[in-house]
Amino acid sequence: MILLDVFKWTKMRFIRGIFCKFVAIKMAKIAMIEKINSLKAEIEGLQAANLADVEALRIKYLSKKGEVSLLFNDFRNVPAEQKKEMGQLLNQLKNIATDKINSLRDALESVDTDCDGIDLTRTSSPIKLGTRHPLSLVRNEIISIFSRLGFSIADGPEIEDDWHVFSSMNFADDHPARDMQDTFFIQRNPADVLLRTHTSSVQSRVMEKSQPPIRIICPGRVYRNEAISARAHCFFHQVEGLYVDKNVSFADLRQVLLYFAQEMFGPETQIRLRPSYFPFTEPSAEMDISCNLCGGKGCSFCKHTGWVEILGCGMVDPNVLEACGIDSKEYSGYALGMGVERITNLKYQVKDLRMFSENDTRFLDEFKSAR
Ligand code: DAH
Repeated sequence: MILLDVFKWTKMRFIRGIFCKFVAIKMAKIAMIEKINSLKAEIEGLQAANLADVEALRIKYLSKKGEVSLLFNDFRNVPAEQKKEMGQLLNQLKNIATDKINSLRDALESVDTDCDGIDLTRTSSPIKLGTRHPLSLVRNEIISIFSRLGFSIADGPEIEDDWHVFSSMNFADDHPARDMQDTFFIQRNPADVLLRTHTSSVQSRVMEKSQPPIRIICPGRVYRNEAISARAHCFFHQVEGLYVDKNVSFADLRQVLLYFAQEMFGPETQIRLRPSYFPFTEPSAEMDISCNLCGGKGCSFCKHTGWVEILGCGMVDPNVLEACGIDSKEYSGYALGMGVERITNLKYQVKDLRMFSENDTRFLDEFKSAR
């Protein structure tokens, strides 16, 4: 009797055990299917704002420790008879996740090329590069030539007083340049304030502040009360040169002028000096160069003379040295002054002076290839 009961009890436990195991397997399967389905729904609804989000989603679902990959780990415990069915479901989930993440990435990558409404794939419109103004090109070249000879650059104001522009430069009180017809006056009497008519004013600015040796060039804009035409303008540009030291001679000046002319216009260039007059130099000269168009043979440009005038020069008048506080018995010097427009005209044959200040880009573009 007891034996029968024990048997019954054992059988019951066995059956119950089998039943429990069966239920557990069923439950595990259901749980896994549920997990697969919920992941599927979750993945299908995924959104990403940028590529970094997409990468975060890939890590979350598909990396080694990602949620889909972890399900594959659980797959090891799935009973053999369920492996086929569960395997298919899992593969399907992995494909859905891979496709979804790829499509999110593709969509964002195509949006990225059109970032913020800018289509980066569009052919660019050419950027119009500016050019150096021909006057700047020539001024820079003049500066560079004189720098090689040891000249440094000095500067002075465009709005000047009478003393620096005229008196210190040995202009007579009744010199016509002091006339309103030639000079733009800003204020007359008690002190004259005016727009400088030449860069020679920088000579006195430098000499009143420093003692020789002085070796400077002064590039700058000057103003004259002229009617504007092809050959004259109310403003233009000059470069002034000044060298003051002991025993400076006219021969020094001539050699510097020859060097300058040959550096600027080519090694074949010849120079000639004609006597002239300037209040601030004695003796004074004007320098011509052999015509750089016809090589000195004569053409319409040089009016068939073979020569073209390019600058004024001379030995600094002792009165100028003394007015600026330099002992003219101990020191001598030379000075020179040239118009940048004139040199540019000779180099590039610009016939009309007005072209330099009209900012016509068709004209300026012609100097694109110049240094
Ligand atoms: N200042 C003169 C002018 O404006 C140019 C000039 C001539 C400058 C002779 C000089 C010089 O230094 O020596 O026309």
